[in-house]
Amino acid sequence: MGLKKGVEIKPATGKMGVLMPGMGAVATTFVAGVMNVRKGLAKPIGSLTQMGTIRLGKRTDNRSPAIRELVPLASLNDMVFGGWDIFEDSMYEAARKAGVLTRDHLDPIKDDLDRVRPWKAVFENAWVKKLHGEHVKKGSTKADLAEQVGDDIARFKKENGLDRMVAVWCGSTEVYRRPVEVHSSLEKFEHGLMKNDPDISPSQIYAYACLKAGVPFANGAPNLTVDTDAMWELARRSAVPICGKDFKTGQTLMKTVLAPGLKARLLGLEGWYSTNILGNRDGEVLDDPESFKSKEVSKLGVLEHILQPHLYPDLYAGFHHVVRINYYPPRGDNKEGWDNIDIKGWLGYPMQIKVDFLCRDSILAAPIVLDLALFLDLARRAGMHGNQEWLSFYWKSPMTAPGLYPEHDLFIQLMKLKNTLRYMRGEELITHLGAEYYD
Ligand SMILES: NC(=O)c1ccc[n+]([C@@H]2O[C@H](COP(=O)([O-])OP(=O)(O)OC[C@H]3O[C@@H](n4cnc5c(N)ncnc54)[C@H](O)[C@@H]3O)[C@@H](O)[C@H]2O)c1
Repeated sequence: MGLKKGVEIKPATGKMGVLMPGMGAVATTFVAGVMNVRKGLAKPIGSLTQMGTIRLGKRTDNRSPAIRELVPLASLNDMVFGGWDIFEDSMYEAARKAGVLTRDHLDPIKDDLDRVRPWKAVFENAWVKKLHGEHVKKGSTKADLAEQVGDDIARFKKENGLDRMVAVWCGSTEVYRRPVEVHSSLEKFEHGLMKNDPDISPSQIYAYACLKAGVPFANGAPNLTVDTDAMWELARRSAVPICGKDFKTGQTLMKTVLAPGLKARLLGLEGWYSTNILGNRDGEVLDDPESFKSKEVSKLGVLEHILQPHLYPDLYAGFHHVVRINYYPPRGDNKEGWDNIDIKGWLGYPMQIKVDFLCRDSILAAPIVLDLALFLDLARRAGMHGNQEWLSFYWKSPMTAPGLYPEHDLFIQLMKLKNTLRYMRGEELITHLGAEYYD
């Protein structure tokens, strides 16, 4: 059977560059974390690639290797970091300002972090209204800016003797926009770059330059970036994997854990009110209504798709779903997310669930950046390109083929991810049918 053969995967030899447009709280927590783990100073908690196992074969076979033993992933020791930001701070300075990690985790790696200095960014205030930075590229056209990003990528590769690279957008959330004509094909997009089309955002310029250079791209924010027809076309033509959007970390992670549970027991939903306070720079950016709109759309989508009110009108038709984010500086990166969930049970009797998640945003996001970098690199070496739906596990708003609704249920997403890994290695897919144990 074809399945048994698996997929040919090139080995993960040589060094791998990780490019990050945006070197703020998430990016620095990820890089500092990898550096700590390399030195044996801390554990990569939350990372499936580093800590996850995968069952192979029957339950009675007792085969549960580590995921990184099943598929050839790049070693943390082979990762080299680079990126862009509108502020000149080195990663050490940026991490100190972000205030996520304490000096216990920053000082032992200070020199390594200090060496990672951002290149000048592609930035337009119209797309992120709350930030003002000087470390910004100048160019006569957007095509010129894309070329400058391409030059940075080529120089980074050469200077570090890299075998290959991946990119993860860790930049601020851009204002909400729908795709328009200029995004409808690669040709129109390239024309738009030359004509300085105002609908082409900075994140789209980075994505274009990365895909042109054959660098897989993951989008950690809700902005369009690689989720347009033009970028899908470029990914196909350059045979590069892409994925997004918006890391699934705190409140939405909980939502996609709880909602499938309610639905599994056919408990109804009257309403789900979610509110947050956070005080980091991300919170400040999201204080702008247009950037918040990108986030709101991304956060609101999940319940509708999980609960399927059209299939279960008695349980879920017309439930109220509200999401708020409040910028509250004293909290810094330590967000508090409250959920009030009004549910109903037998004969319609009402009940409530309250969730108060005192989380740390970047602590939850950092392992996701690591996994995405490693899995996208794996996908590239396995010859997979275009949208990597099996990585939906990591996204609030997974990109899907036209006409296909996204799968938001965390457990289905995990099953899909693991089955994809099994498929890559020619292992049996696990269906959980299990009839053979009783034959
Ligand atoms: N932490 C989480 O749990 C989480 C979850 C989902 C999504 N995100 C998204 O991840 C992104 C990063 O979050 P963060 O907490 O690190 O924010 P942050 O504000 O600390 O870092 C973002 C960095 O991007 C830089 N930046 C903005 N525009 C840029 C551009 N055009 N080019 C280069 N750099 C640019 C900013 O200067 C800043 O340093 C945000 O978009 C956020 O919404 C975070």
